[in-house]
Amino acid sequence: MSVDMTKWREIARKGQRTWRGDSAGRLEGKSVIVTGAAQGFGEGVARELYREGACVAIADMNLPLAEAVAKKLGGRAAAIGVDVSNEESVANMVAKAVETFGGLDLMVSNAGVVRSGPLTTFEKKDLDFVTAVNYTGLFLCCKYAAIIMEAQHEGDVERAASGGEEPPMYDIVAVSSKSGLEGSNKNFAYAGSKFGGIGLVQSFALELCGKNIKVNAVCPGNYLDGPLWSDPKRGLFVQYLQAGKVPGARTVEDVRRFYEAKVPMNRGCLPADVARAVLYCVEQQYETGQAIPVTGGQVMLN
Ligand SMILES: NC(=O)c1ccc[n+]([C@@H]2O[C@H](COP(=O)([O-])OP(=O)(O)OC[C@H]3O[C@@H](n4cnc5c(N)ncnc54)[C@H](O)[C@@H]3O)[C@@H](O)[C@H]2O)c1
Repeated sequence: MSVDMTKWREIARKGQRTWRGDSAGRLEGKSVIVTGAAQGFGEGVARELYREGACVAIADMNLPLAEAVAKKLGGRAAAIGVDVSNEESVANMVAKAVETFGGLDLMVSNAGVVRSGPLTTFEKKDLDFVTAVNYTGLFLCCKYAAIIMEAQHEGDVERAASGGEEPPMYDIVAVSSKSGLEGSNKNFAYAGSKFGGIGLVQSFALELCGKNIKVNAVCPGNYLDGPLWSDPKRGLFVQYLQAGKVPGARTVEDVRRFYEAKVPMNRGCLPADVARAVLYCVEQQYETGQAIPVTGGQVMLN
């Protein structure tokens, strides 16, 4: 059952931001949630958006780490604990962001997990876990962001009718993956959840564009410098070396070179690359429902 958001809809409808701050930048005065922002791409994207003047909710399951990230960023950042696969938790995250900032201009649905392995031995519980976070989590973030953004739009339209400014656009950006654009060997649970996420993005884009809400996806390549790949104990480089996944590789560095060589631009994707794509989605006023590759040329659209 949906969580009652009446109180937060009313606040959002008024369009009075409680915490505009005194920042300057391309996102000056905008309120943003980034999920999974305690580390990895999410943290880096949150940092870039903060630098562009946004008020940023660092939303993550790992609250202590999210609090540390928010503290390091400064006064326009706030940590919020959330499990994106849980409806009540997502509703509370959005409510808390509205309570803190007075509204929501951009939802970056970034939290994601990977479980990989061959089809014939893959456990259903692992498929369910990946689907719950990557696919259902995106649905829930879009649902509660849209509840607030639709209310804001209603208020904007009323104010425009009585001589106010033109109603602004709001944005939802899903952090998908290059594996949302092409299949991924022995990584189907992840690829399936990311393909499915793009189906949600396209459908919500159609449903919400009449309310001035754009919905897009960005599809990064591998963040080879991030914890998922480079963690010295549990990172994918170490795992792939131990599993013999890269023929002839004798060191972690050999595995890394193998993956770098797959990229025409010869390097992994960085948070700043993803943030630039997010900024494009926000600033482009005439595009919605897109899935933008950020892969150094590794994946090209037809
Ligand atoms: N790392 C890559 O190479 C890569 C490439 C393409 C796309 N992506 C996508 O980028 C996004 C971020 O990936 P990353 O590699 O930075 O991940 P990461 O594992 O480094 O960080 C993920 C963050 O999400 C949080 N999280 C996990 N489950 C959560 C949940 N249920 N609710 C709330 N928070 C949760 C974790 O606590 C963590 O802070 C994911 O959607 C991932 O699929 C990553």
